[in-house]
Amino acid sequence: MTAEIINGKELSMELKQSMKEEVALLHKQNIKPHLSVVLVGNNPASRSYVNGKKRASEEIGMSSEIIELPESISQNELLDVISQLNKDKRVHGILVQLPLPKHIDVQEIIEAINPKKDVDGFHPINIGRMMTGQDTFLSCTPFGIIQMLHSRNIPIAGQHAVIIGRSNIVGKPVGQLLLNENATVTYCHSKTKDMKSITKLADILIVAVGRANMIDKDYIKDGAVVIDVGINRLDDGSLTGDVDFDSASEKASYITPVPKGVGPMTITMLLQNTIKAAKGMVK
Ligand code: GUN
Repeated sequence: MTAEIINGKELSMELKQSMKEEVALLHKQNIKPHLSVVLVGNNPASRSYVNGKKRASEEIGMSSEIIELPESISQNELLDVISQLNKDKRVHGILVQLPLPKHIDVQEIIEAINPKKDVDGFHPINIGRMMTGQDTFLSCTPFGIIQMLHSRNIPIAGQHAVIIGRSNIVGKPVGQLLLNENATVTYCHSKTKDMKSITKLADILIVAVGRANMIDKDYIKDGAVVIDVGINRLDDGSLTGDVDFDSASEKASYITPVPKGVGPMTITMLLQNTIKAAKGMVK
């Protein structure tokens, strides 16, 4: 089998076109969706991600700002910044780019964000709502993955989804969203024994481990749908996923590439969440 590619970049462009129209309509009602992105320190990867988020916001006519703060900022100073953004009526969405410096208590920062402005979907209130299947902000990468599956009418109910990786940002929530859509979900992680025997049962295999080309055809059942969440930079500067694309494509029915796969969808879902926040759809 040669896999069909689910191109996240193309899907993102389609979704952004309709969001652009939605933002124009909101402008007519004097609602100007605005995203504030907080960047602490000088991590080059983080800087590149936040620039991408600002650029994408502007592409669809939304306003966006990057609040740059020094690596040395204290916990209380950062909490003050969040508090100001919570109070600012102009700001609909707040995103604090992770990772944060080691001296910062990340969980306290996330919990300080008003859940109504938590467009990352990281606040425990929004995670709880997601777990109980309520309408809320869904964290962007998992939400993007679900949209990619829906875009190809890939069945989820009754399918066996195997997730490799259990991060709070991707692994755990994507498993929950698939469960909400009636998949049978299994998580694999660094302590899992005989991982191949489990991944070979997967109808849908989601790989989010952060290790270049770790998963090849030996892990994959014929006809499985393979979603690669990894973004790894090789020594030559090129980007590659957690999945060995050429090898996996021999067995998969659908596969996502890197780049132009899940990455662009993450940003697009952030825009969708910010529009949702501006419309006051999350209480
Ligand atoms: N760092 C890597 N991915 C993300 C994300 O989705 N949101 C935030 N805030 N930081 C990240």
